[in-house]
Amino acid sequence: FIRGFSSTAVRNVVIKQVTVIGGGQMGAGIAQVAASTGHSVTLVDTSEDILKKSVKGIEGSLKRVVKKKFADKPEAGEEFIQKVLQKVSISTDVGSAVQSSDLVLEAIVENLKIKQDLFGRLDKLAPAHTIFASNTSSLPITDIASPTSRLDRFGGLHFFNPVPMMKLVEVIATSSTSKETFESLMNFCKALGKTPVSCKDTPGFIVNRLLVPYMGEAIRLHERGHGSKEDIDIAMKLGAGYPMGPFELADYVGLDTMKFIIDGWCEKEPNNPLFQSSALLNKLVAEGKYGRKTGEGFYKYK
Ligand code: NAI
Repeated sequence: FIRGFSSTAVRNVVIKQVTVIGGGQMGAGIAQVAASTGHSVTLVDTSEDILKKSVKGIEGSLKRVVKKKFADKPEAGEEFIQKVLQKVSISTDVGSAVQSSDLVLEAIVENLKIKQDLFGRLDKLAPAHTIFASNTSSLPITDIASPTSRLDRFGGLHFFNPVPMMKLVEVIATSSTSKETFESLMNFCKALGKTPVSCKDTPGFIVNRLLVPYMGEAIRLHERGHGSKEDIDIAMKLGAGYPMGPFELADYVGLDTMKFIIDGWCEKEPNNPLFQSSALLNKLVAEGKYGRKTGEGFYKYK
């Protein structure tokens, strides 16, 4: 007997109706891509004002897509935008938003307790067949799923920023995720036009597990006085073919986010040398220099 396992688990759910919770950077991007590929989307956030901004953002992003895709057919482009926007409805009432949903995809703040509270509530409100997924970057999916009784219908869908541009989705199966749920999630990603990869529920999955220690090591290399930030960035761009150097990338990701991720991992594995923060990173974060979003991180931005 597996906890949360029921007859609904053996059904292979084709995901058509999606509820995206959190209309921020990631949630709005996911809603846009899902609606663009013919899914019905309900976008949920805490206020009408935030949701109106999310929809404005989606509209702006669609206009940029259309400019390229429909360069010689502007009317068809406008038609496409209207069709996509019609597929997106907004709601501040999460209970009613999940009623007819095949997938609930959570993209709210990166806080375990808040995510657990949300899913604990939703578990009682959503239909039995509904699959739950989190877009978390750094928290264990197993911990987020723990207050629900649908562990077999729970997984991770980790998108990348900006969602409409980035092709990859990491699909995370916990030890309780059923094969059917995993396949439904993989098929959903393909229907979105994305390339899914299969991940286990381990810190950072694949991409961040490699990138975060890499950026950390670049900072330590610099701290040891073995290279300037500029030289390290140039070296990795021209020598390894990376589009951004590690300091540029860290500023893009956000130094606060990077520190939050490392500190979370360090708590779980205090002796792992790859999971250590550094004096320079701690100092910049303490000074509110988070990178591009605050105008200064390792570099200054206008
Ligand atoms: P964000 O701060 O832009 O958006 C979060 C949204 O969630 C806000 O609009 C907020 O009002 C809303 N929200 C907060 N609590 C809520 C609740 N209880 N119910 C409904 N809405 C609520 O954050 P962002 O960057 O979109 O990140 C969201 C999630 O995606 C986080 O878990 C983050 O770790 C993950 N992620 C972020 C990436 C990034 O590059 N920003 C990349 C991949 C994953």
